[in-house]
Amino acid sequence: MQEDDLINLISQYEIKSAELEINLSKRKEINDIVAKFTNDFIERLPYSKSFINKNIQKERLEISGLPHSLEELLLKYSDEVIETGIKPASGGHIGYIPGGGIFAGAIGDFLAAVSNVYAGVSFASPGAVAIENEVINWLKKIFGFPQNAVGNLASGGSVSNLIALAAARDKFQIKNDKVITSVIYLTTQSHHCIQKALRIIGLEDVIIRYVTLDNYFKMDTMALKQQIETDLANDLNPFLIIASAGTTDVGAIDPLDEIAGIAKRFNLWFHVDAAYGGFFIMTSKKDLFKGIEQADSLVVDPHKGMFLPYGIGAVLIKDASSVLHANHYSGNYMQDAVIDDLAIDPANLSPELTKHFRGLRMWLPLQLHGEEPFIACLEEKLLLTEYFRQKLLLLGFKVGPAPDLSVSYFWYPASKDANKFNRTLMQNIHKDGSVFLSSTLIDEHFVIRMAILSFRTKRYTIDKAIDMIKSALESTKHGLA
Ligand SMILES: Cc1ncc(COP(=O)(O)O)c(C=O)c1O
Repeated sequence: MQEDDLINLISQYEIKSAELEINLSKRKEINDIVAKFTNDFIERLPYSKSFINKNIQKERLEISGLPHSLEELLLKYSDEVIETGIKPASGGHIGYIPGGGIFAGAIGDFLAAVSNVYAGVSFASPGAVAIENEVINWLKKIFGFPQNAVGNLASGGSVSNLIALAAARDKFQIKNDKVITSVIYLTTQSHHCIQKALRIIGLEDVIIRYVTLDNYFKMDTMALKQQIETDLANDLNPFLIIASAGTTDVGAIDPLDEIAGIAKRFNLWFHVDAAYGGFFIMTSKKDLFKGIEQADSLVVDPHKGMFLPYGIGAVLIKDASSVLHANHYSGNYMQDAVIDDLAIDPANLSPELTKHFRGLRMWLPLQLHGEEPFIACLEEKLLLTEYFRQKLLLLGFKVGPAPDLSVSYFWYPASKDANKFNRTLMQNIHKDGSVFLSSTLIDEHFVIRMAILSFRTKRYTIDKAIDMIKSALESTKHGLA
């Protein structure tokens, strides 16, 4: 093409493509609209439902390929996304594992997205990578990990567990024929993402031992020790123990110190999934976590116990070479970015190359607020759990054993078919939706679960939950009479 024609053609496309760089006055307008929308959303939260079980109108979300106004899109977002299903930003979300999503975390994401810095390798953005690593260093301090341990900020607990388990696999070189004789120890209370990770990393055919639980749903360490001895006597290859520091069902913390001792004695990798419970180490519950510092790898989710918006989990690993083994690769196109200390670059410690700059959504809130409000919030959640359980007992409910942390369960001791009664009660609670609770099965018994971890859950939220449960109980009694 002649140069003039080329310039002409570029100019034509420039006009249309320039629409993607929104100009300053329009940006200010958009900032105002979005600020109003988010502020209204937050102010309305205490008065709105936490669960709305309605069908969405998918056709309103269809992409037509044509431009629409922001006002129209925000309306659709509100109707079809915010006002449907569970509202995780609400303090009334006390099902599954909530967190809330603090505003400072959202600001961190906004800044990360606008500046679009590349947090995968330090050559590209030494500052962003330094922030990622500073967050990891802060976590190492909290959990008593040595400074030469490495870590990564992943999307959540599932991917963080996957990274840790792959490191354990590679440390012990569990591959080929070795897979079917190698043994992993966990409990039926381990989170299902562990099984998922094992399948993904090629360990589907490994031998899994579900170690007996004690009456508090914690790993029975005598049973663990005996099982390892039996497996060794049978020429099997024990290599990994997976403990929980805060199980999803009941919030139990396994006896970490004893398990650490057993792992050391038999030379096994000791992994702790503290995705939910980990940050309670900063509270009066600290002693329950004794032994966590001896773990070879640890997972903790800031989008749970630090109340950050969804999308951040963390993994810490002591043996850098084992995690580098699976994740460090290079390509010719990366030759400018090679550094001596491979573990500095997040891209070498995770399956991600281009990664979201997650460090900022944690670094910024920690720097803005300091640690104390986070600790106070966790202590508050522990006390609210006790408060909730006391109120439930007064209503005639049975409650599970006193929890280690802020997850517990309850059920109504109906005289006939208690499972059916409690399932109907759960449906009535969901129909109301003022507060959201979820359910689980404990030894085949249908129970209603409470998980108090949102920073927005306050005493008035628990009072609201009690009022809601009381009227759902009455409806259930009448409905089933
Ligand atoms: C103990 C535990 N581990 C792992 C996970 C999975 O984490 P994520 O949902 O962030 O992937 C959860 C989620 O609730 C959990 O409670």
